[in-house]
Amino acid sequence: MNLENKTAIVTGGISGIGAAISLELARCGANVAIIDLKPDEEAAEILEQLTETGCTAIFIRSDISDFAASIQAVQFVVDTYGQVDILVNNAGINRDGVIWKMTEEQWDDVIRVNLKGYFNFIRAVSPIFREQQSGKIVNITSINGIRGKFGQSNYSASKAGIIGLTKSVAKELGKYNVNVNAIAPGLIETEMMRNTDESVRTAALEEIVLKRLGQPEDIANVAAFLCSALAQHITGEVIKVDGGQYI
Ligand SMILES: NC(=O)c1ccc[n+]([C@@H]2O[C@H](COP(=O)([O-])OP(=O)(O)OC[C@H]3O[C@@H](n4cnc5c(N)ncnc54)[C@H](O)[C@@H]3O)[C@@H](O)[C@H]2O)c1
Repeated sequence: MNLENKTAIVTGGISGIGAAISLELARCGANVAIIDLKPDEEAAEILEQLTETGCTAIFIRSDISDFAASIQAVQFVVDTYGQVDILVNNAGINRDGVIWKMTEEQWDDVIRVNLKGYFNFIRAVSPIFREQQSGKIVNITSINGIRGKFGQSNYSASKAGIIGLTKSVAKELGKYNVNVNAIAPGLIETEMMRNTDESVRTAALEEIVLKRLGQPEDIANVAAFLCSALAQHITGEVIKVDGGQYI
């Protein structure tokens, strides 16, 4: 897949799935701007890996749930590279709890980051994509946004919201030659997964028909495909990458 001369923004690109996506886009030739909340020192390792591929990479420390900061971050990327071609909305959090115990804070935090954060970056790039008559948006949702999950009503609601957001924006930006798709991972081995209970991991392995836990690279490969010319006729889709966990 060839992404030479493209500039990509990847939110939550310091760790897990976001880091793997950043790396894959860079291997395909894109320059990568990572947006993440983590401190600069934690960005150093992935930035080094990115530049080893021959691309240029920058890190912008920013909270995706902050609207004004998100607009500024995208402007900074445009000022640096003169363009932006790809947005991968990936940063996300979970604050699990059964509904009868869930606090307002748990609910608000997850919706603010996982849903509003995605809106913020789409809102920031869409005038640019519309003007240049091209662009790719990939939103990372979850199979739990399709089927729901015990103890994750806030997370599942945010991920279901991302699916509605993806399809609506695909309809709005289609005539401007912008592809907008979502990837719905099943359980993937990352820091987020390591924060969940061991029983969740065991139960997931029982469901996954391919009998292996998903790796960040499994998602990165599909993200790179969706950002490439090979996927030019795909939009408004939600692609499950879950080893058959959903079926
Ligand atoms: N790991 C899984 O099993 C799994 C399954 C389905 C979907 N997902 C989704 O994939 C995405 C990545 O998950 P992951 O497992 O790699 O998680 P992770 O926790 O390893 O990485 C998430 C990254 O997002 C950053 N981040 C969090 N909140 C932020 C904010 N407000 N502003 C900027 N950056 C922020 C974190 O600092 C971190 O670097 C998430 O949207 C998650 O919901 C993960």
